[in-house]
Amino acid sequence: MTDFECLIHVDRRVLWHPYTQMRDYEREPFLFVDRAEGIRLFDGEGRAYYDTISSWWCIVHGHGHPRIKAAVKAQMDRLEQVHFAGTTHRPAILLADRLVSLSPPGLARVFFSDNGSTACEVAIKMSFQYWKQAGFPRRERFISVDRGYHGDTIGAMSLGGTAGFHGLFVPLFFPSFRIPSPYCYRCPAGRNDPDSCGLDCLAPLEAILAERGEEIAGVILEPLVQAAGGMIVYPVRYLARLAGIVNAHNVHLILDEVATGFGRTGTFFAADRAGIRPDFLCLSKGLTGGVLPMGATLTTEEVFQAFCDDYEKGKTFFHGHTFTGNPLAAAAALASLDVFDEEGVMEGLVKKARRLQEGKERFRSLPQVGDVRGIGMIAAFEIVRDPMTRESYDPALRIGWKIYRAGLEKGLILRPLGDVTYLFLPLSATEGEIDDILDRTYQVLSGVGRVA
Ligand SMILES: Cc1ncc(COP(=O)(O)O)c(C=O)c1O
Repeated sequence: MTDFECLIHVDRRVLWHPYTQMRDYEREPFLFVDRAEGIRLFDGEGRAYYDTISSWWCIVHGHGHPRIKAAVKAQMDRLEQVHFAGTTHRPAILLADRLVSLSPPGLARVFFSDNGSTACEVAIKMSFQYWKQAGFPRRERFISVDRGYHGDTIGAMSLGGTAGFHGLFVPLFFPSFRIPSPYCYRCPAGRNDPDSCGLDCLAPLEAILAERGEEIAGVILEPLVQAAGGMIVYPVRYLARLAGIVNAHNVHLILDEVATGFGRTGTFFAADRAGIRPDFLCLSKGLTGGVLPMGATLTTEEVFQAFCDDYEKGKTFFHGHTFTGNPLAAAAALASLDVFDEEGVMEGLVKKARRLQEGKERFRSLPQVGDVRGIGMIAAFEIVRDPMTRESYDPALRIGWKIYRAGLEKGLILRPLGDVTYLFLPLSATEGEIDDILDRTYQVLSGVGRVA
């Protein structure tokens, strides 16, 4: 037995992996990732796999970027962890300042946490407490979007719309309102042109706000891409209209940019395309270049001021995590932002994103590809049994999973979302790598009829 085979043996005995039916693991080996370089992962035998999903939508500048590695090493020598209540430190201060300057107008304060779920939980709790302290104690409910995803903690799940993941836990959720997903491919109103439809899917939002607006604290959504919901890309004008409606009702707009932030959609933040002013911005994943866990929730000075008072008034935000503002993660995040500046990442992205978006179009001719969608460095292919009727495959067939297994044979990590196969590429992918990834993915999807 090789060293890594021994390790796999121990893994099977003691580990429990996330979002994984461990029974599958008894039948099929998992990919043992030994090391990574650039946008490739290498298994125990040295075989390369493109990290086509950026290691769960995190990696921004590729694995092992020297600038980020050096920053984390230097920070390690100086200060690796300290509690963040009653203390402060250089990387957290500098990072907060840079995030404020990069984020949409009006956001002035940064609250650090550990991951994407906590970044959203913080926004939900802050919004809730804000209204209590601002003289609107009835504003206790949130509105979220079907097929939205904000994490796996109870609060984040309460406002998620991925029943397949979270349906079982419904009895634990707090009550909220849900509006339809702007899922143009499966538009309930049967419109086929997302660029010119009447945005009928926003009517329920207007109705809830008209009838119950005084009970609503905030609306939470992922701007432009409902990622875990199936890489559902929706029009900018939906986001702009939604923001206008929310604003008109004096309700908080909570943007969850955990997946879309840091360039993935072609602009630094997805919200930038809509020119809107959120009250909360939730960040994680790409924040540290994707190399260390960290979450951040940005909010306005107005929200902040509602919590700032004499201690005995009881307005403190009693929330925090052990690793809040961790110095290593903050140093990685600062280095990642430096890479954006020094390597002209956003400028270089224009051509790369075009390459991917143009390159994905040829997949429309594949018989089992019902929808092709994408934005920036994201491209998604919805696999259907019948493209005419848009009928899905029987979930028991696990088409997405079979495609994933076939992708591994071609050196790709095509981890699916149900029957949606997608690419969520690191911004550092070169045009040549994008072409190669598209070619290999095309070959895999050409064989869907065989794996079905
Ligand atoms: C939009 C969005 N919000 C929140 C989360 C939760 O982040 P985490 O897994 O770091 O808790 C995710 C994770 O995929 C996400 O895509």
